[in-house]
Amino acid sequence: MQLLLASHVLPWLSSLWSPQSQAQLQPTACDSLSLPSIPGIKILSLTSHEVTHYHPPSTPDTDSIPLINTTSTTTPPDLSFCNVTIHLTHSPSDHDTVYISLWLPPASAWNGRFQATGGGGLAAGYFPGPQVSALVEGYATGATDGGLTLNNTIEPQTGSWALRPNGTLNTALLTNYAHRSIHDLAVIGKTLTAQFYGRPANHSYFKGCSTGGRQGYFAAALYPNDFDGIVAGAPAIHLPHLFSELFWPPLLMTHSVVPRGCVLEAFRKKLVEVCDPLDGAVDGLISGYWPKKCVQGFQAGGLVGSVVECAEGNRTEKVVVTDAHAQLVQRILDGPRLGDGRKLWHAMAPGASFKGTAGTAVVNGSVVVQPFFPVIGWAKNFVFQDPAYDVMGMGFEDFDEAALVSIEKFQGLLGSEQHYLGEFRDAGGKMLSWHGLADELIPPLGTIGYREGVQEDFGGPEAADQFYRLFLAPGVGHCGGGDGPAPVDALAALVRWVEEGVPPETLAAEGVDGKGEKVTRALCPYPAQLVYDGHGDVKKAGSFRCEVLTDE
Ligand SMILES: *[C@@H]1O[C@H](CO)[C@@H](O)[C@H](O)[C@H]1NC(C)=O
Ligand SMILES: *[C@@H]1O[C@H](CO)[C@@H](O)[C@H](O)[C@H]1NC(C)=O
Ligand SMILES: *[C@@H]1O[C@H](CO)[C@@H](O)[C@H](O)[C@H]1NC(C)=O
Ligand SMILES: *[C@@H]1O[C@H](CO)[C@@H](O)[C@H](O)[C@H]1NC(C)=O
Ligand SMILES: *[C@@H]1O[C@H](CO)[C@@H](O)[C@H](O)[C@H]1NC(C)=O
Ligand SMILES: *[C@@H]1O[C@H](CO)[C@@H](O)[C@H](O)[C@H]1NC(C)=O
Ligand SMILES: *[C@@H]1O[C@H](CO)[C@@H](O)[C@H](O)[C@H]1NC(C)=O
Repeated sequence: MQLLLASHVLPWLSSLWSPQSQAQLQPTACDSLSLPSIPGIKILSLTSHEVTHYHPPSTPDTDSIPLINTTSTTTPPDLSFCNVTIHLTHSPSDHDTVYISLWLPPASAWNGRFQATGGGGLAAGYFPGPQVSALVEGYATGATDGGLTLNNTIEPQTGSWALRPNGTLNTALLTNYAHRSIHDLAVIGKTLTAQFYGRPANHSYFKGCSTGGRQGYFAAALYPNDFDGIVAGAPAIHLPHLFSELFWPPLLMTHSVVPRGCVLEAFRKKLVEVCDPLDGAVDGLISGYWPKKCVQGFQAGGLVGSVVECAEGNRTEKVVVTDAHAQLVQRILDGPRLGDGRKLWHAMAPGASFKGTAGTAVVNGSVVVQPFFPVIGWAKNFVFQDPAYDVMGMGFEDFDEAALVSIEKFQGLLGSEQHYLGEFRDAGGKMLSWHGLADELIPPLGTIGYREGVQEDFGGPEAADQFYRLFLAPGVGHCGGGDGPAPVDALAALVRWVEEGVPPETLAAEGVDGKGEKVTRALCPYPAQLVYDGHGDVKKAGSFRCEVLTDE
């Protein structure tokens, strides 16, 4: 279906872009923009007007950006752009209302490029955060809600959009979420960019993290001609499998013990202490990407009986670590399993904060489980199709069912097993992906598994490297955060690769350590990893080199 749509649209687009028709294009005033008919899409409305002296909100709206820390350290200048708002639907039976926002900087400020931006969790896009950053850098840029806000009436992270009022799955919105909304954004964004400036964008990019990262991978596999370059951070690929990993700690906790966050943090620190030296550098960061060796050498039981100091309001409370705490941590680190012992998915990354999937909070004096919010909506609406389902009351047998149903029902649409990047490669596309090795939500091993699959498809790492590189960032959390240096500007590295043919041999990363001192790394493309030279300053990138270790 989506491929049918693509094959209708692409010839139409390329005719628009032929040198002949390009010569005839003239710039169009902001308030005169219009869309030609696009197969498969019905435009409900298009409004556009000049915005001048726009000051983006200085603090992100935390309700709409729960998953990515987009707090910028610099205040953007005041911005001017052509603000285009589009509402569209697909077939009449779909009943979806998709909202697309495009921001087009004045021709004098335009860098000649288009950038589509992605979403996170159960949202297809964020507003206005990612568009602000893109506009500041001179991009014509856009975002889409994929229709998942139900015409701005619900918070998409609830996942309630997945069901129609009669309780059936909303396949139109699921398709939008999976891949269609970013494709629509690419087609419409590129068309209006060409119309506004009187010539097409020189290059088109996609940038996203988490669900945005997944959208990037899906765009490469399903719409290989949409983007010249894709930055995909911490991709939520294998989404149907992720449910089990994300809900495993809450399930274990509701059936055993709910530790204070400080107790879980004490286990994390101990784990880092044990695993950090395995890579040769004592720098507080676990730089190897195979967690097995690390977790095997870690005995959670070693902490039993020790005392953890927990800050509680004004006072400090002493909590004694129990055997139940240790058993819980060991099972979380082992990863989600069915009742019969079969492994469901990778465990959370060792060294990652337990706050991601094993969050707890003290409420009225008792410690309660705080699951990763979107997982609740996923279980209710996507898996059980019952908004009243008591997710926190789930037993182990219900969990087995939920984990298997999640995979069976959504593998086809939202899984990544069938995706092949051959057409993306042939179209000249480049994908720069990265994943924090201390990601507290999405296990980096899933992304590594995907990359391994691509290496097999194309005949080894060098062949895959021609168009797809994956950088692993020690100590970095989900899309940022954590203790490790994070990529400084992955998009700039990608642009150089696409436009100058200079592939990123390493990816510059920067952060601060516990003492507030700057730490740098030149992250390595998988399968290489950072290897310490044995004597240099562990805060400096130059003390490490990239090497493929054959046996860790
Ligand atoms: C978000 O990032 C800013 C700037 O890097 C930092 O000051 C802030 O503490 C971060 N917030 C969270 C919740 O991590
Ligand atoms: C862009 O236009 C839409 C629709 O008129 C409006 O809701 C939105 O606030 C505008 N954005 C800015 C930054 O002015
Ligand atoms: C787009 O590419 C053309 C041809 O290489 C170049 O002349 C032009 O400056 C580029 N446009 C922008 C806005 O950079
Ligand atoms: C979406 O909501 C707006 C009001 O916020 C309304 O004018 C419009 O008709 C709605 N569109 C659809 C398709 O329901
Ligand atoms: C539920 O609603 C959808 C859309 O209105 C409709 O296509 C479908 O046939 C309905 N299914 C049932 C079982 O009522
Ligand atoms: C913390 O101390 C301040 C001043 O000493 C007091 O006003 C406040 O009520 C205390 N808060 C708690 C949670 O005990
Ligand atoms: C805390 O306890 C008070 C009094 O029993 C109750 O009114 C309040 O709702 C409780 N708060 C929460 C968050 O459960």
